[in-house]
Amino acid sequence: MNFNITVLPGDGIGPEIIEQAIKVIKAIGENFNHEFKLSYGMVGATAIDKCGNPYPEETHQLCLEADAILFGAIGDPKYDNNPKAKVRPEQGLLEMRKRLGLFANIRPLVCYPSLIEKSPLKKEIIEGVDFVCLRELTGGIYFGKPQGRSKDGKTAFDTCVYSVDEIIRIMKLGFEMAGKRKKKLTLVDKANVLESSRLWREVAQEMSKDYPDIQLEHMFVDNAAMQIIQWPKQFDVMVTENMFGDILSDESSVISGSLGILPSASVGDQHSLFEPIHGSYPQAAGKNIANPVATILSAALMLEYALSLNTEAALINEAVENSIKEGVVSEELSGDGKSFGTKEIGSWITNYIKKH
Ligand code: IPM
Ligand code: MN
Repeated sequence: MNFNITVLPGDGIGPEIIEQAIKVIKAIGENFNHEFKLSYGMVGATAIDKCGNPYPEETHQLCLEADAILFGAIGDPKYDNNPKAKVRPEQGLLEMRKRLGLFANIRPLVCYPSLIEKSPLKKEIIEGVDFVCLRELTGGIYFGKPQGRSKDGKTAFDTCVYSVDEIIRIMKLGFEMAGKRKKKLTLVDKANVLESSRLWREVAQEMSKDYPDIQLEHMFVDNAAMQIIQWPKQFDVMVTENMFGDILSDESSVISGSLGILPSASVGDQHSLFEPIHGSYPQAAGKNIANPVATILSAALMLEYALSLNTEAALINEAVENSIKEGVVSEELSGDGKSFGTKEIGSWITNYIKKH
């Protein structure tokens, strides 16, 4: 079959990790007789440098035309330390999410047996962990208006806004996802303080009548932050608003041993984008030390969710699991052992695919 993929390498380590995922996709294409037509677009600080806009119109067009979007990373320290910067790379990512309607961010968390020793958490706590963090991605305090400063500049404000419709569409995905898994949905919020959280609860409870086989549970976000570390096995699907999801999914990544192996999918009704959870890791850019696994697994998620190529995705997952088992890992995971470079890990996984 033929597929159009828009590839957005972005900033920092983005281009080098994307390159590895592309090697993998090409190998899948050869093995299974698919043609992946790749179109590259600019995004982030790289795009600001070239044309002053972190999400140029051409890039948006490429995204609209694609069957799926594969994204590297965004961000540059020259903006992080300058709160007065007029344009920021992150605006590109937020604008892209909003304009493409990518309202749900799916972040699967599993404990790989071969990495169990790498997690700072105890083996008994994380063994067998398998849950999904489902984060609302186009609403809440990230996008709410008003946002800004008072006239005298002495006060700043952000607003958390959610509509019933926004809550319904993400909760629906949560109920459906839980239905295909262990049938438990945990809504994380701060309903003891925030009105927007109370609306989430109200809507969720009303909807749960239509999903009698799903156990809906409520948890305050402060408690959830603790439970993720203390007893992560209790979770199946955790659904939450934009900023809580941002924070809790980073926290959850310690279960897997490294942020460098966690993929994510951002999906909407019409478009979908796949990206590693980690950022642009500028200190590592160009050094061939970054872990390409999160991006390679994001490509696997893309094949599965956007292109319905389940066998192909399973082969990528198998190749990655084997690479980890064989110790073909980057420095953050190798400990005292031998570490492998970005390209070498990409090639190992690609060769595994070619041979199977
Ligand atoms: C993420 C990132 C982004 C976010 C930043 C880069 C804007 O942290 O995808 O989790 O906060 O959503
Ligand atoms: Mn984040």
